[in-house]
Amino acid sequence: MLITLLGLATAALLTVIGLIFHGLWLIALARRQRRGLPLVVTHARWLNPNLLRLHLRHRYFLPLPRFAAGQYLTLLGTPAGARPVRRCYSLAAWTAWPWRYELCIKREEHGRMSNWLSSHACAGAPLYALPPRGHFILRDQHGPHLLLLAGGVGVTPLRSMLHAWQQRPNGRRVTLLYAGRTLNDLAYHDEFVALANQRPDFDYQPLLSQDPTTVAIWQGRLDGTRLHACLTPHSEVFICASAQLLQHALALLAQQGVPAERVHYEAFTTELAAGSGEHVVHWQGQPFHYQGQPSLLAALREQGVDLAADCWGGHCGSCRVRCQGEVEWRIQPSAPLAEAEILACCCIPRGALRLGDS
Ligand code: FES
Repeated sequence: MLITLLGLATAALLTVIGLIFHGLWLIALARRQRRGLPLVVTHARWLNPNLLRLHLRHRYFLPLPRFAAGQYLTLLGTPAGARPVRRCYSLAAWTAWPWRYELCIKREEHGRMSNWLSSHACAGAPLYALPPRGHFILRDQHGPHLLLLAGGVGVTPLRSMLHAWQQRPNGRRVTLLYAGRTLNDLAYHDEFVALANQRPDFDYQPLLSQDPTTVAIWQGRLDGTRLHACLTPHSEVFICASAQLLQHALALLAQQGVPAERVHYEAFTTELAAGSGEHVVHWQGQPFHYQGQPSLLAALREQGVDLAADCWGGHCGSCRVRCQGEVEWRIQPSAPLAEAEILACCCIPRGALRLGDS
């Protein structure tokens, strides 16, 4: 009898201990998911005065989540004395089983995350990030010729695509058109030159708008003639550039008759110039004011609306809201949108707006 009671008490005790450990494990898991992947900077180097290259590994030497070439990482920043900040950065290198992530970050004059990283992200610094995401990806079924068109730091997801192509060539040819002002603005230029020298199926063409010292064939801007010379009847086009270059490239591709379903794009975040006009914006029933801010998102954030926003460039979709009223698009959104939805980071009002959760 005593032995039975002892046995039951032991079983009950073990059950309680098990439940406590299970609860603690669930709490730890939830905290970890909220805080993101624990990473550490293993390498930080300025490629030029505005471009910071980072290598990150898992803090406990674990393998990192796999990703598709073209996807981005959302870094979670905690600047001292300021609100936490989140920003998306495209992964600049690709491998099928990653132990390391590479990012290339452009310092923006008023960019909270890029300025925080400039001072914080030295070798050994801890960082948190959400796992890779994004729709701008290279797929196996894409065509026999890839035309990659990059502007400035927009080369990062396209470099990942190049790595994926090198590891799984599929008989494809690749052309990289890379636009910048001077040779110094082109990240990874030497690597692309070396690859073009090694592989006849890779064509590399820099487009330098303000560098008269470089070879004549690399000088110039993107125009219809240059684009036409790179296109084949089956080209699949991937563009990552500033909003302005992206608009220009899309217009040229439409003139050349490239079907929209073969054009994939993403704008990288740039500081938009001020907008214009003054309008009332109703957000969840409350009136707010738009007064010439660069984007609707900027106007709402200034007035304390905590609308999620990870990329400020129209591709993560986190600032998606339902909208009644007319807007002017300042960045071509690449995140998918349903009817009556907008991305607040990409547009400004053209009149009174009524917004709500999407
Ligand atoms: S913040 Fe990413 S789409 Fe607007």
